[in-house]
Amino acid sequence: MTVKVGIINVTGYAGMELARILRHHLDAQLVAVTGRSMAGKRLDSVFPHLVKMGLPIIEKDELEGVDVAFSALPHKASAEACIQSLEKGAKVVDISADFRLKDVHEYESWYKVTHPGPQYLEEAVYGLTELHRREIASARLVANPGCYPTGALLGLAPLVKERLIGPDVIIDAKSGVSGAGRTLSLNVHFSEADENVSAYGLEGHRHLPEITQELRQMDTSQPWQVTFVPHLIPMTRGILSTIYVKPADSRLPISAQGQKRLTDLFRDYYKNEPFLDVTQEPPQTKQTWGSNMTQVYPVMDLRTGRIMVITTLDNLVKGAAGQAIQNMNLMFGLPETEGLDTLAFYP
Ligand SMILES: NC(=O)c1ccc[n+]([C@@H]2O[C@H](COP(=O)([O-])OP(=O)(O)OC[C@H]3O[C@@H](n4cnc5c(N)ncnc54)[C@H](OP(=O)(O)O)[C@@H]3O)[C@@H](O)[C@H]2O)c1
Repeated sequence: MTVKVGIINVTGYAGMELARILRHHLDAQLVAVTGRSMAGKRLDSVFPHLVKMGLPIIEKDELEGVDVAFSALPHKASAEACIQSLEKGAKVVDISADFRLKDVHEYESWYKVTHPGPQYLEEAVYGLTELHRREIASARLVANPGCYPTGALLGLAPLVKERLIGPDVIIDAKSGVSGAGRTLSLNVHFSEADENVSAYGLEGHRHLPEITQELRQMDTSQPWQVTFVPHLIPMTRGILSTIYVKPADSRLPISAQGQKRLTDLFRDYYKNEPFLDVTQEPPQTKQTWGSNMTQVYPVMDLRTGRIMVITTLDNLVKGAAGQAIQNMNLMFGLPETEGLDTLAFYP
């Protein structure tokens, strides 16, 4: 079976990256793409690197005749388009934040809009593949996670699921500028972003409630206290997160033996994961550039008794389009790695 795929809003970075990855997918065919400002043009004329992908870009966000629609619209507009696709009988993977938070009040207070379809929130499956594989496989609507939460949660999951840490979590994350999308804003101008590093979202970044929601789901017993500080750094793609937690269980003593147990825990937890690599050295963003891989490095600070977990991923691949395709593969019973088995570009 060939899955017929549509991309709603192909003109942003996430939508464009979906088209690039789908080009090499053996069981899926891109049959329709939408994009407001570029309607009427060919996809390969708007993005010349998508060589010989000549689909016409259509304007309306309602796709006809697709088995699955990916939406890469900004929030709110995305939910509206997703609902139309669901009503037409397609499965949907939403790359925006619209169906990630289960509590509509929480969504509306963080995103400052009225949710267009709160009745779909219960049904939507949070698409962090490694944590929700079974539910994703039978889902009609998948809420693809945010790029920062993907790196943070994959770094925390083995520790949280095994109940090995206390509730105090610090996530210090750095992202390249494509994380802010293709739409221009002052902080991503070359002269603002180049040779500059800045923290933002200190009053509370929108990805924070998503992280806490998932932590609560993994371990309801802890009163999770998450400090999340994202930073913008002058590179195009990639996120590096350094996560700091305190062990709270005698199974993880602060010692060389504890360090070994920590490494073994992560190795064991992710041993069958095609897109998780527990590294022997601290990972670097370039090692995941263009690939769907997340690299994870857990380490103990023997002086302070903290555990640090460093994760890296490509925000446009595992943090958006790649994970969305990984989820589509599961939703259609295809091999999970199909279309995604590429190594990073290095150096
Ligand atoms: N960038 C990332 O790393 C990343 C990662 C994970 C998730 N996401 C999510 O993916 C979605 C797309 O992000 P992106 O980074 O690809 O954004 P982007 O590159 O900024 O693209 C957004 C595009 O959406 C179109 N647009 C804006 N408002 C619209 C509206 N009301 N109706 C229809 N089209 C509209 C605009 O294109 P036209 O002018 O051509 O219509 C704009 O260029 C967002 O929800 C974002 O949160 C992004």
